[in-house]
Amino acid sequence: MSTQSTPHANTTAIGSSPIRAGAPLVVAAGLSRVIASRAQRIVILDDISFVVPAQSLFAINGPSGSGKSTLLNILTGIDQPTGGSVTFGGQTLRKMSEDQLARWRGKNIGVVFQFFQLLPTLTAEENVLLALALTHALPRRQWRARAGECLALVGMGEYAKRLPGELSGGQQQRVAIARALANDPPVLVADEPTGNLDSKTATQVFDLLAGLTTRGKTVIYVTHDPHLAERATQRLDLLDGRIAGMSAGARPAGAADGATPTLAANPHTFART
Ligand SMILES: Nc1ncnc2c1ncn2[C@@H]1O[C@H](COP(=O)(O)OP(=O)(O)OP(=O)(O)O)[C@@H](O)[C@H]1O
Ligand SMILES: [Mg+2]
Repeated sequence: MSTQSTPHANTTAIGSSPIRAGAPLVVAAGLSRVIASRAQRIVILDDISFVVPAQSLFAINGPSGSGKSTLLNILTGIDQPTGGSVTFGGQTLRKMSEDQLARWRGKNIGVVFQFFQLLPTLTAEENVLLALALTHALPRRQWRARAGECLALVGMGEYAKRLPGELSGGQQQRVAIARALANDPPVLVADEPTGNLDSKTATQVFDLLAGLTTRGKTVIYVTHDPHLAERATQRLDLLDGRIAGMSAGARPAGAADGATPTLAANPHTFART
């Protein structure tokens, strides 16, 4: 199918110019998130710098409360940092208005949620169609074929007419992935995408997400599961809002060797950097 966001297999089309696989797609520089009131000052993220290489399978890992979701929301411009900056495909998010950000997100980022967030009164196909209708990425006459392609890609072609309530959790998450792919965004983000699934189903859904990198997608996922974090080609480990470790390919250019803890090479890594 055409779920291939790139003009060439090894480049990612986002922003003004294609980004080579393995080159920095997201650059987070000195991010902090502090919530301050008269009574207290809570540091949620403290001086977070890293890069997400294009077409990587990138894990943001850490225990509950370590700041993973906050960081993911900052990377996609849903939340604002109190310090530092995010550059995504060459664009500095801080410089965009809310409207620009919303349009940019709709075009470039597909989101997969822990609890699927399918609309319960719409069929699987209609949920995907809705994503197409909301962003007008394709002419209307192509919507149905595109929805069919996306559902087929995630193995849900035969379930197009089912309501979410008539599907298992794993099937619902597959439909949610199809929906995230509808506009063919170069990047997918997923916050605990398998957190609500049994371990066998979780592995199947994760395999599906991981496989999208071979179709030119960059997949950024949040997990607290060490096994899932190990599957990443690149990863960032958080603890109490700080970097506890990162794989070598996630280290920002210019960061001195040893400036941040580096994780041991992962035998499962298929990084193309
Ligand atoms: N609006 C807020 N006001 C105060 N504290 C907040 C706010 N949002 C998040 N926090 C705190 O920031 C920390 C990080 O939250 P975050 O949701 O990013 O963690 P997480 O790593 O995603 O956790 P989990 O694995 O449980 O989802 C937590 O201690 C949380 O209580
Ligand atoms: Mg979270």
